[in-house]
Amino acid sequence: MAVIMRPYGPDSPDNARDQAFKSPSMVSTAPVLNAGEAPATKAMGDIPGRDACLPARSRLANKSLTAYGTSVPIGPEVMYWTKRDVTSLPGLRERARRSTPQRKCRRLALRRRRIIMKAAVIASFGEPSVLQVAEAPRPVPGPGQVLVRVHAAGVNPAEILARAGAFRLRAPAIIGFEFAGVVEAVGPGVDEGVVGDRVAGWPDSATQGSYAEYTVSSNFATIPDGVSFEEAAATVIGADNAARALGLMNLRPGETLVVTGASGALGSAAVQFARQRGVTVIGVAGTANADFVRSLGATPVAHGPGLVDRIRAAAPGGVDAALDTAGKGLLPALVDLLGGPDRIVTLADRDAAQHGVAFSAGGSENRDRGPVQEALNLIAAGAWTARIDRSFPLDEAADAHRLVATGHTHGKVILIP
Ligand SMILES: NC(=O)c1ccc[n+]([C@@H]2O[C@H](COP(=O)([O-])OP(=O)(O)OC[C@H]3O[C@@H](n4cnc5c(N)ncnc54)[C@H](OP(=O)(O)O)[C@@H]3O)[C@@H](O)[C@H]2O)c1
Repeated sequence: MAVIMRPYGPDSPDNARDQAFKSPSMVSTAPVLNAGEAPATKAMGDIPGRDACLPARSRLANKSLTAYGTSVPIGPEVMYWTKRDVTSLPGLRERARRSTPQRKCRRLALRRRRIIMKAAVIASFGEPSVLQVAEAPRPVPGPGQVLVRVHAAGVNPAEILARAGAFRLRAPAIIGFEFAGVVEAVGPGVDEGVVGDRVAGWPDSATQGSYAEYTVSSNFATIPDGVSFEEAAATVIGADNAARALGLMNLRPGETLVVTGASGALGSAAVQFARQRGVTVIGVAGTANADFVRSLGATPVAHGPGLVDRIRAAAPGGVDAALDTAGKGLLPALVDLLGGPDRIVTLADRDAAQHGVAFSAGGSENRDRGPVQEALNLIAAGAWTARIDRSFPLDEAADAHRLVATGHTHGKVILIP
């Protein structure tokens, strides 16, 4: 089995939009208004005076699209145009200066600079308290992307590392690597039919993430009826990574698999996928989570000293493979248990190579919405559990991080922007 050495983590390249952020201290809370303008409100899409300008704005947008072949989305989303987008079009600046309706539209474009959203913005990386709710520019969906109004964001161990500075992201940053929400607008090349769809997936940028009212994404699954935003957000990263790791293991129905971290987001997804495929599962977790692991169809075994003996007692017929999602130094015990590293995969132990064990790394290039859709459909069918520990409002993001950092939650921790 190939050993994958690539470190995991959010590796989406920061794009130009990241640079559009202002640090919380730079974000104006007292926008300068043109004469006669009502103040822009914080609520996105709720722009006083925009209705009055709508017909002229639409004409302007259509004209510009025809004349200059730009693929900037039109309709309500014309408000995303930047001042430069509008004023750099040949002749438009002059026409905007002369014509009253067009002047109104130019003002709208200028006001666009104050199209802001609420987000947990990191101005400099460090302790949980660096997650400060502030106003940030609402992102713009580019080619192939949708703009999502985020209703729930899962909080992940990787985000604890990102917040602390381990990923060397550029500040100011909005982290949050999975979301559930509603498509509000589409970028060029995306069918407008998806507007209004409930979706769950990955933000395209590691610094334009889901700890915000809005994010942009090109990789998402559809949330079926009956599945909550919290459940959907809790499913994305767990289902994707668990399915990818299990796919490396060539498991056959009737085989016995050990899953460490079985009560966690990745581990509980792995247990459920394995059970769906007729595999017997020994789930290693804390005693406080034993009933939950049992409810997923696995035999619970407590972590801690004596682990190998307890697993052998729980699986008298032997163990065929092991998936480590805990990353707590359990690989030597698993190698001992299986008599070698060949059928062990870890998603979480960076010492994998030392033990000859395969590390399965996630990243933007190998995210698969297929298993996420499968898990969401199973939730809707009552055949999958996405357990939620607690939901926090966005301005308590620091507390959410402190809870996840304990390493012992009772389900996914969710932020509600
Ligand atoms: N490879 C990748 O691409 C990738 C992607 C995403 C995540 N990850 C990594 O995968 C790991 C799990 O993520 P997650 O979201 O599933 O975390 P999680 O929901 O917090 O779950 C953590 C699990 O680890 C268990 N655990 C905690 N301390 C332990 C110990 N000392 N010994 C044994 N088990 C222990 C917990 O059990 P109890 O709470 O029941 O005690 C729980 O089952 C993290 O390290 C994360 O960074 C990797």
